[in-house]
Amino acid sequence: MTSIEQLAAAGEIDGVALAEIAEQHGTPCYVYSARQLRSAASAVQAAIAALPDSQASYAVKANGNLALLRIIAEAGLGFDVGSAGELARVAAATAGLNPKPHLCMTGPCKSAADIAAALGEPAATIICESPDELTRVAEMAGAAGKTADIGVRVNPDVDAATHRHIATGIAGGKFGVDADTGLAMMEKAGSDPRLRAAVLHCHIGSQIARAQPLIEAAGAMIKLRDRLSGEAGECRIDLGGGFGIGDARQRPSEDVLAALADWLADNAHGIGFSFQPGRSIVARAGLLLARVEYIKGNHILIDAAMNDLLRPALYEAQHPVAIVGGKLAGTSGSMNIAGPVCESADFLARDIDLAAKPGDLLAIGDAGAYGFVMASNYNGRPRPCELLIDAGKVAVIRSRETIADLLAADKIKSDG
Ligand code: LLP
Repeated sequence: MTSIEQLAAAGEIDGVALAEIAEQHGTPCYVYSARQLRSAASAVQAAIAALPDSQASYAVKANGNLALLRIIAEAGLGFDVGSAGELARVAAATAGLNPKPHLCMTGPCKSAADIAAALGEPAATIICESPDELTRVAEMAGAAGKTADIGVRVNPDVDAATHRHIATGIAGGKFGVDADTGLAMMEKAGSDPRLRAAVLHCHIGSQIARAQPLIEAAGAMIKLRDRLSGEAGECRIDLGGGFGIGDARQRPSEDVLAALADWLADNAHGIGFSFQPGRSIVARAGLLLARVEYIKGNHILIDAAMNDLLRPALYEAQHPVAIVGGKLAGTSGSMNIAGPVCESADFLARDIDLAAKPGDLLAIGDAGAYGFVMASNYNGRPRPCELLIDAGKVAVIRSRETIADLLAADKIKSDG
């Protein structure tokens, strides 16, 4: 399928001109394609279809917009939530759907409020990341007269070969527990009437470019499951997310999830597998639309900034860029794209080849995942609106914040 930045270079997405969108809704704004999202969601379903008892839960942290969650639920995926806030988003987005999507809650330090929210959902599995957390879940389930489905996140000590900020599978990190502690937690849960030991889980990182480290982790998890007995010995294995999409410079040479699923189909039998893809579903369905304000030397200064799309500043991520109705940027060159924020890290792209001029519209691709969700109000900047193109129509799926919104929660201390 033609990528969203290629469509932007051609000027329109599904019959909607991006220049018109910018005119009507202003810039910067996030633009998503429902068609691209549906196609990525069904690619995930197709990739795991050969595994007899498999399920995918979309990782809501990648993009929690209600309209997008609804499309993902309609494609038959469940959800992985990291907090009570994300759970509330899923509940709002899937109201009235039958059957209800399956849910799991992950995260290294769940609050009592997070756990209470998950316990309120009969279809939710709570993945515990420490013995203390397991104890808290058992106590809260007991007090509520419930039996909680739980999972345990094990850290398999596998190097995901990705940026250090998004590698989570190496021993000694804050995520999960070591294998022996994980086994003990699963056995304990298996014999506790307040808990059901349902899932053995790992998630070794994000933007993983090849299936090989995921296969290594899967092999370790299967061996670990073999060591469990009783109820725990029947558990599912949840291999998390992390399926990489590459960047402007290089796309992965294989579909990482499909390659992992193929390996599992050949090497693991009689086990139910779960996956938590985030980025691979939403990233390429979204772009950030921004306007060039000025050119200064080799800096293309635009109206979007690191507060709108943090990934280039935080991970040195290289997103594809196109001039709307013009050219795709070359991936090596002397131009940089910078924003209005007063930080030297405020770049949206570096060392690219792009002949942009003031007034041009730029489309920054791969922005559907970890884009809007990581946006902030830094430098007094309202967050952009989010728009969805579906069947040739544009819908505002989140309105642009206003300066009044930014002031609304502050209070000047009164002496009275
Ligand atoms: N499951 C768990 C437990 C996770 O922590 C994550 C992401 C996922 C699934 C989904 O991973 P994905 O398929 O999206 O790679 N902000 C960073 C990415 C952080 C990922 C955090 N965990 C970025 O912009 O690259």
